[in-house]
Amino acid sequence: MMPPVFSTVAETRAHLVHLRARGASLAVVPTMGALHAGHQALVRRARDLADEVALTIFVNPTQFGPGEDFDKYPRQLEADLVRAGEAGAAFVFAPGAGEIYPPGEQTRVSVGALAEGLCGASRPGHFVGVATVVTKFFSVFAPATFVFGQKDYQQLKVLERVAQDLLLPVQVVSHPIVRESDGLALSSRNVYLSPAEREAALGLPRALTAATLAYQTGERDPKRLLALASGTLAHYGLDVEYVELRDAETLAPPPDGPLTGTAVLLLAARSGGTRLIDNTRLGQDPAPVRA
Ligand code: PAJ
Repeated sequence: MMPPVFSTVAETRAHLVHLRARGASLAVVPTMGALHAGHQALVRRARDLADEVALTIFVNPTQFGPGEDFDKYPRQLEADLVRAGEAGAAFVFAPGAGEIYPPGEQTRVSVGALAEGLCGASRPGHFVGVATVVTKFFSVFAPATFVFGQKDYQQLKVLERVAQDLLLPVQVVSHPIVRESDGLALSSRNVYLSPAEREAALGLPRALTAATLAYQTGERDPKRLLALASGTLAHYGLDVEYVELRDAETLAPPPDGPLTGTAVLLLAARSGGTRLIDNTRLGQDPAPVRA
């Protein structure tokens, strides 16, 4: 069944008054639409966490830089509603840009060091846009549980920080990366890939797997783990933006010497013109590609 769609904050809040009067709890899955099985997994997870699940669909202009894909980002509300309904969303919040950024608005949410390196370095302003729009969603739906994917690992850490630092009555829950059977992480941007670019994109999960297998057999030298990942990306002809090992919680670079705590290996690379990201926590997540 197709879930009802609310396009204004007022309609959404009116619905939430009824929900709370019934004593029901709420979980929310924010998305930019072009829903795939990864988004649906978040909705299914959300159903386990609350009585009712809301899905938001909003292609947020403030998180795209000049020259990025805001204009060509896939927009397909009808197909998305079918997928949202299949996964069990009770309703969809799909506002227009003027509802989220009304005339005269001038407030932004800016996170510190967590938002600076990695994707923050190549996409200036990106995390200000993400933190701002998600803070608005936190404000509309709180109290609620929010579910985000580990696919966007830095985003997840930034949003956990926002919820905590702004004392918001929301709980942030993360869900593992959902992959195709060959290991490629599902992404709304995969539709941009030609067959040859799709093949090359496999270099990302294979790079993570090379490092994971080495880690599992005792390799703890960050340089050697990074070299394995970089070598794989180069072998697939990908245009590498970053290959980095960071502390899985703080995203700080690990201290010199062999890895000790939980590290996350994060990648960003282009296949053709399409920018792809992927990551894995060494010693914690399964190898992205089956041997
Ligand atoms: P979007 O890219 O649509 O992703 C929405 C949510 O789905 C995010 O939490 C993302 O991490 C998760 N997701 C995407 N692909 C996934 C996969 N293969 N496995 C698991 N989870 C996956 O991320 C955004 O939108 C936006 O930045 C948003 C948070 C909505 C703010 O505009």
